Amino acid sequence: MSERTLRLGMVGGGQGAFIGAVHRTAAALDGVFLITAGALSSTPERSRASGTAVGLPDDRNYPDWRAMLDGELRLPRDSRIDAVAIVTPNDTHFEIARAFTQAGFHVLCDKPLVHTSAQAAELVRSVRSAGTLFAVSYNYSGYPLVKQARELIAAGAIGRVRRVSVEYHQGWLAANLEQSGQKQAAWRTDPARSGAAGALGDIGSHAEQLVAYVTGLELESICVDLSTFVPGRRVDDDAGMLLRFVGGARGALTASQVCVGCENDLRLRVWGETGGLDWRQEQPNELHLATLGEPERVLRRGNDYLGPAARSATRLPPGHPEAFFEAFANVYRAFGAAIRVGATGLEAAAQHDFPGILDGARGVHFIETALASARSDVRWTDARFRPPA
Ligand SMILES: NC(=O)c1ccc[n+]([C@@H]2O[C@H](COP(=O)([O-])OP(=O)(O)OC[C@H]3O[C@@H](n4cnc5c(N)ncnc54)[C@H](O)[C@@H]3O)[C@@H](O)[C@H]2O)c1
Repeated sequence: MSERTLRLGMVGGGQGAFIGAVHRTAAALDGVFLITAGALSSTPERSRASGTAVGLPDDRNYPDWRAMLDGELRLPRDSRIDAVAIVTPNDTHFEIARAFTQAGFHVLCDKPLVHTSAQAAELVRSVRSAGTLFAVSYNYSGYPLVKQARELIAAGAIGRVRRVSVEYHQGWLAANLEQSGQKQAAWRTDPARSGAAGALGDIGSHAEQLVAYVTGLELESICVDLSTFVPGRRVDDDAGMLLRFVGGARGALTASQVCVGCENDLRLRVWGETGGLDWRQEQPNELHLATLGEPERVLRRGNDYLGPAARSATRLPPGHPEAFFEAFANVYRAFGAAIRVGATGLEAAAQHDFPGILDGARGVHFIETALASARSDVRWTDARFRPPA
């Protein structure tokens, strides 16, 4: 096993971008990755300026991702980047991810993976034939107490799961922010860039992955209601759905970006035959555990009473809050560990506990299925009350 620092290239994440800087911090947090190359923006000038601002060496501060791919392939193998992080808007993921995969680089791509299941399937085939690793930054599964919840459910601590409630509520798109030129709002509400879904794809995809990761349950069918509340908006900004899982568990998922006052209010509750769990992303250092007939307990990150997955995903003693960066870094650390031991195959993601390409492909399928369900009225029963004449 090689413990050397891995070389990471980055596409996207230039000046004014949101998530690229989080990726850079997370990738570097444990010294597993060093940002070595990049094509950080959508024009050559902005790419160069952005790369200089984050300290990229001139010779690996590329004008665009194709130049980065060519430039890195020209270098001797032992100085090329090991992996590339793709942190651009959704419409660009497929082409960039496929090109780097086919050239033999490991890839970490942000969510939602791609626009269509056909693209996801092609990407899965590319990864399989290249023998590379592929991670998708579903960072919420990196939280220690999310890992604890998963371990508790797997160990039967709440019994067989009956009901799941997951909600991801934001309020930042309650008004027509896209008209103001705010760039994150502009591309997220443009179906050509974001994909056919709005809130459903942007944050509903996180909710779907969190449920799958924590409960291990497989979705059997969904009944979906999508709305666009803000006039003129071209994608949904509010999604609600009923969930049926294989094996009989039931659930509800809401993902909305018009909940005034909400910031990143992601909450997962799971109830089984003998207990219940409650975790919130805005209080990520606590996990509430209810057991039938007993007072509720609050498990706190960093304590020795937690299981091995939560303990190894923690860096600070209890009481010093850890949050978004550290959870993100846990995805990078697991991905890096898999690279270092030379892991291959699609199963490597589950074995090393990072979200992989199959999770990304399942997320794309979820979005497509939800859009199809929302277009169908078949399962809805008219519930309007008409007062007697
Ligand atoms: N995992 C998470 O929690 C999380 C959070 C936010 C965003 N995201 C995802 O990350 C991605 C980026 O989102 P964001 O909010 O940072 O967007 P953003 O608009 O803030 O940043 C996108 C960056 O990509 C650059 N870019 C665009 N096209 C490019 C190209 N062809 N080559 C190189 N750079 C290019 C832009 O110049 C910009 O720097 C999206 O897929 C989004 O869904 C994930």
